[in-house]
Parts: sequence; C-alpha cells; structure tokens
Amino acid sequence: MFNPELKYLKSFCLSAFILAGSPGALAQSDAPVPSLFDRLGGLAPISVVVNDFIDVVVADSVLNANEAVEASRKVVPAPYLKYQVTAMVCEVTGGPCSYQGRDMKTAHAHLNITAAEWDQMVMLFKDVLAKHQVPETETGELLDIVGSTQADIVAVSMSGP
Ligand code: HEM
Repeated sequence: MFNPELKYLKSFCLSAFILAGSPGALAQSDAPVPSLFDRLGGLAPISVVVNDFIDVVVADSVLNANEAVEASRKVVPAPYLKYQVTAMVCEVTGGPCSYQGRDMKTAHAHLNITAAEWDQMVMLFKDVLAKHQVPETETGELLDIVGSTQADIVAVSMSGP
C-alpha cells in the first residue's frame, strides 16, 4: 500500500543528502511551487468542478428557501454563473483569465445571504471537491479563497439583530 508519509520522508532524506554533497542541487530545492491553477490541472478540470458545483448550488432547497436567491435563479442563467465563477477561480488561482464580473459585495448585496446559507454552500463545495478527489492541500487553498469572500457575501449574521 502506498504510504505518502514514507514518500515525503524518503525524499526529504534524499534532498538533505544531495544538498550536503552538491551545491548545484540547491537550485532544485528553489524550484517555485506551481500555481494552484496548475496544481488543479488548469482550466478544463476547474471548469468541470465549477460546473458540478453550480448545478448542485442552484438546485439546493436550503439556499432556494431564501426568496431573493430563488427569484434570482429564475432570471440569472446557470451557464452565466458557471462562466463567471470559472473565470474568477481561474484568475485568483494564478491562471490566464481575467474576471470581468461584479465584485462580490455588489453581486450579492440584494440576496440577504445568511451565515447558515453560507455554511450550506461551503458544505456543498466541500462535497464537490471530494467527489472530484481534489487533494487536501488544494482543497484547503480553495476553501481559504472562498472564505476570503465571506464578509462581502454574508449580509445576515446567525445571531440576528
Ligand atoms: C451562500 C452563498 C452564495 C449564494 C447563495 C450565491 C448566490 C448567487 C446568486 C443568486 C447570484 C446572481 C445574482 C444576481 O445577478 O441577481 C450570484 C452571482 C455570483 N456569485 Fe454567488 N452566491 C454565493 C456565494 C458565492 C461565492 C462564495 C462566490 C465566489 C467566491 C460567488 C461568485 C459569484 C459570481 C462570480 C457571481 C456573478 C457576478 C456577476 O454577475 O457579475 N458566489 N451568486
């Protein structure tokens, strides 16, 4: 059975050995970490994950119990959301895209999104990432990116007035 910890341990020992013996090997350890965009596999896999995520989100009964969200679903086409969210994820992960949509505060202000609805969306997002076997590190980075928009998107706190 493949043991990832063992693999890292082995490669760490190997690197330490090479570094000690050969100054030229230093350049190897300085190799830049590929962008999140590249580690996710680029635009094609990102578009597939976003496609599945939006499909799940627009059909979700917890989110659609919010009347403003439900009303928006009837006028804003899902393919448009898929396009905009794909462009955004592509750009913020370091890919060659330029998001041209509205900022998150403007796009969601009229929706009165609650903290509970936010949590529901995060749960759906995690499920989709798990279904596509996105590795733990990349999942964490994507959740951080999504999390960074929470203050602009959630309009109604859980505790109420
Ligand atoms: C509970 C969470 C969320 C809900 C219920 C939600 C719902 C919606 C709805 C209904 C729209 C269409 C608004 C309209 O034009 O009337 C929209 C637009 C959009 N959402 Fe969200 N959203 C959520 C979170 C997020 C997150 C976390 C992101 C990305 C980080 C995101 C990215 C976008 C983008 C890019 C648009 C299009 C903006 C534009 O039209 O210019 N949303 N969202």
